[in-house]
Amino acid sequence: MSRILTGIQSSGKPHLGNILGAILPAIQMSAQSGNESFLFIADLHSLTTIKDPAVLQENTRAVAAAWLACGLDTSRVTFYRQSQVAAYHTELTWYLSCLTPYPMLANAHSFKDKSDRLADVNAGLFTYPVLMAADIILYDAHYVPVGKDQKQHLEMTRDMAEAFNRAYGETFVVPEGVIDERIMVIPGIDGQKMSKSYGNYIDIFQPEKELQKVVKKVISDSTPLEAPKDPTNDVTFKLYSLIAPAADVETMRQNYLAGGYGYGHAKQALFEALKTRFAKERELFDYYYHQNPAALEQKLQEGEEKARAIAAQKMNEVRGKLRF
Ligand code: AMP
Ligand code: TRP
Repeated sequence: MSRILTGIQSSGKPHLGNILGAILPAIQMSAQSGNESFLFIADLHSLTTIKDPAVLQENTRAVAAAWLACGLDTSRVTFYRQSQVAAYHTELTWYLSCLTPYPMLANAHSFKDKSDRLADVNAGLFTYPVLMAADIILYDAHYVPVGKDQKQHLEMTRDMAEAFNRAYGETFVVPEGVIDERIMVIPGIDGQKMSKSYGNYIDIFQPEKELQKVVKKVISDSTPLEAPKDPTNDVTFKLYSLIAPAADVETMRQNYLAGGYGYGHAKQALFEALKTRFAKERELFDYYYHQNPAALEQKLQEGEEKARAIAAQKMNEVRGKLRF
């Protein structure tokens, strides 16, 4: 049996890009029989950039509610907040830090990138990959599905696991990253990659009126209503084709090519399709995030108990190796 593990930062409410690009594929993978899955919210990592505890807590709740709303089955997946297993994660981080050469961290792409970009360059940003390695090897994960940007972090994780095994004897599984190159970049309302930091995202959990407002802002060219339109480069059409049934997409394509069909019509169809495609998810998100936060909390606490038991056992083994 393989163990699959992945973490998601709680840096904001998940948007359509996160849902189609990360959440739904991970849920599908966890639903395959024979795999044991661990999915956690990396709220300790989020502390590197978010300092306000209320903001962090709300983001964590929103991320957790979104995963449950998208169909995460907690009877099959160990689902937890990293901060609730913090003692083990951070203890292992220290042991790994003492085996990690300084230049390996100093040369990490994501550290260099963040230290150029951010005003607050704290030590947490620097040791970020060590905590990430601890997150993974603490649970003896075999496979770690991540985005391309995390590839180097996975290589560093493997180095740290191997370094520990060399120094203290076989202890950790050396994990493999699973990078799905097929996952496409979901465009935002301005046509660039959908991203929280570009402010171009669609939040599918918003109330209908606000959702409709955002959809109306999707970029389009100035082809007049009567004229035929090219569907291939149009953002409304692209988004529609990602979520609507194939037959409806074909109808919209024909409408574009025929003319007499305006971008306003297409945007209204996109809005309707979002509501239909994500009706169940919108309802469940509302339940966990707004109506019944206690149910959300309970699900997380159940997962945290399972995670702690596994982590405790592994750390006993680790301390034994260290003769502590
Ligand atoms: P981020 O919000 O950038 O931390 O990304 C969280 C996850 O969502 C990562 O696995 C990303 O690869 C994925 N993701 C974020 N934005 C998009 C997008 N526009 N299209 C596809 N996947 C995305
Ligand atoms: N660094 C990852 C990201 O930003 C989040 C993360 C933290 C993670 N710990 C992890 C991902 C462990 C996979 C496994 O996306």
